[in-house]
Amino acid sequence: MKVFKSRLFPLVFLVFFLNVFLVFFTPSYDYHMIHLHSDSAFTLSSRIKANHVLPSTSANDSYSNEVDEVIKFGHVMKNVTSLKRIEEGLARARSFIQEAIRSKINTTATKDSFVPKDSIYWNPHAFHQSHVEMMKRLKVWAYKEGEQPLVHDGPVNNKYSIEGQFIDEMDMASMSPFKATHPEQAHLFLLPYSVSKVIRYVYKPRRSRSDYDPDRLQRLVADYINILANRYPYWNRSKGADHFLVSCHDWGPRISDANPELFKYFIRALCNANTSEGFQPNRDVSIPEVYLPSGKLGPPNMGQHPNNRTILAFFAGGAHGKIRKKLLKRWKNKDKEVQVHEYLPKGQDYTKLMGLSKFCLCPSGHEVASPRVVEAIYAGCVPVIICDNYSLPFIDVLNWRKFSMEIAVERMPEIKTILQSVSKDKYLELYSNVRRVRRHFVINRPAKPFDLIHMILHSLWLRRLNFKLTASH
Ligand SMILES: *[C@@H]1O[C@H](CO)[C@@H](O)[C@H](O)[C@H]1NC(C)=O
Ligand SMILES: *[C@@H]1O[C@H](CO)[C@@H](O)[C@H](O)[C@H]1NC(C)=O
Ligand SMILES: *[C@@H]1O[C@H](CO)[C@@H](O)[C@H](O)[C@H]1NC(C)=O
Ligand SMILES: *[C@@H]1O[C@H](CO)[C@@H](O)[C@H](O)[C@H]1NC(C)=O
Ligand SMILES: *[C@@H]1O[C@H](CO)[C@@H](O)[C@H](O)[C@H]1NC(C)=O
Ligand SMILES: *[C@@H]1O[C@H](CO)[C@@H](O)[C@H](O)[C@H]1NC(C)=O
Ligand SMILES: *[C@@H]1O[C@H](CO)[C@@H](O)[C@H](O)[C@H]1NC(C)=O
Repeated sequence: MKVFKSRLFPLVFLVFFLNVFLVFFTPSYDYHMIHLHSDSAFTLSSRIKANHVLPSTSANDSYSNEVDEVIKFGHVMKNVTSLKRIEEGLARARSFIQEAIRSKINTTATKDSFVPKDSIYWNPHAFHQSHVEMMKRLKVWAYKEGEQPLVHDGPVNNKYSIEGQFIDEMDMASMSPFKATHPEQAHLFLLPYSVSKVIRYVYKPRRSRSDYDPDRLQRLVADYINILANRYPYWNRSKGADHFLVSCHDWGPRISDANPELFKYFIRALCNANTSEGFQPNRDVSIPEVYLPSGKLGPPNMGQHPNNRTILAFFAGGAHGKIRKKLLKRWKNKDKEVQVHEYLPKGQDYTKLMGLSKFCLCPSGHEVASPRVVEAIYAGCVPVIICDNYSLPFIDVLNWRKFSMEIAVERMPEIKTILQSVSKDKYLELYSNVRRVRRHFVINRPAKPFDLIHMILHSLWLRRLNFKLTASH
């Protein structure tokens, strides 16, 4: 927004901040942990008061609920009631969700994928209502600072594509109904920084290992946050808890390594959701890795009817990382039913083979996430997750056991017997659930309800529902 670039703005803003903001808004946390796992887990019970970690201010009890102070400067209206309104909206959303859970409102009866019986959701009522509330209310502000290509840009194809697609949808494209027109309206703040672009443009030349020092990335992101925290009140008032960044690059988690304090509450939406590398499932968001061919939003649908799926299990891919090496060592070119390839023989089509398979093996590679999970879902092939420490995408709402299998790394030699022992009925149930969950992994531009971009937003929305920013009393 142009008005923010006015040289007068910081001055006026500071006056506002010192006189009104500091006095009335003692930041205080009130975490309401919300998980859509089950009726009983969906309580607003486990509250963690985190006031002590926040700076104390001189504010005292002078905050009045009636305060409606507005400082006018050009187009910028500083309206101190906006945070209160945001929190009131969130409180209403929480109570509608709880009401839906309590009364099992049948809003979803017409949509078969929401029929609670044998649901792919932990709680279809909670999820449906939460999604409705999100559609109704959620506003995201994408900061305008920074220049392309590092900011406001991102890869839209290949394996990091979700990074660019999301940034483009929420920052550059004007269509999204979730875009806040003013930061005062925002529930969440996007740092439209692209880790992939930083790696691509800043890490040059690359001659030795020292040219790959994560320090450069960490300083760039920290500097960006510093600018925002100095220019606007939003970072400081929440200590970054309503701020997020989306990264699919392997290095995404590294942004916070050098300064864990700065990122203590910050939401990192990451493909590389490795819990042994500090991914925190309650605070961070696991996003699916999706391989997008150039200029496309997904592969063609070549999924066959179950009767036509003649391959029991399928994998093709490089020998990246320990798990795949073990998989290839045991299974590569050894079995007709368990088809494991390092490279596909000429003339074979990867997508087509997935569509002919009942189960698709999805072992971790260099990183925990693999685009195979989504490719399998697209192809109607039941994903078989083989990894350690991976926090699966959308696990807050999706019950992965209903549409995928998990095989422990050390049981890879038993893949064939384990999958053969899945009964026909069980397989058909998994298959039909894969088809039902597909819509949550499809990318649309502009995004559509319940699709992958909405699911990412919903994960963020859930985290925002989990805490409250309050004025002091
Ligand atoms: C709090 O504000 C009131 C006026 O509203 C003032 O009388 C009082 O001294 C203040 N207390 C502190 C500790 O600043
Ligand atoms: C403050 O902002 C809210 C929306 O956030 C708006 O409804 C209200 O009218 C504003 N108050 C004033 C005095 O402009
Ligand atoms: C919801 O609707 C479905 C389909 O119309 C119906 O079978 C089911 O009994 C309803 N559930 C409740 C709780 O009303
Ligand atoms: C936010 O906090 C930092 C560090 O405490 C401070 O330097 C900065 O001025 C604050 N931002 C605003 C807008 O006051
Ligand atoms: C990571 O996975 C290993 C092997 O399953 C397990 O022993 C370890 O506890 C896991 N670590 C975390 C942080 O989940
Ligand atoms: C199985 O594949 C054959 C050949 O592609 C096709 O003609 C047939 O309709 C398929 N069967 C089902 C049930 O989809
Ligand atoms: C997850 O993180 C741990 C700790 O850094 C690492 O040892 C492991 O290799 C990672 N997993 C994958 C698949 O990269």
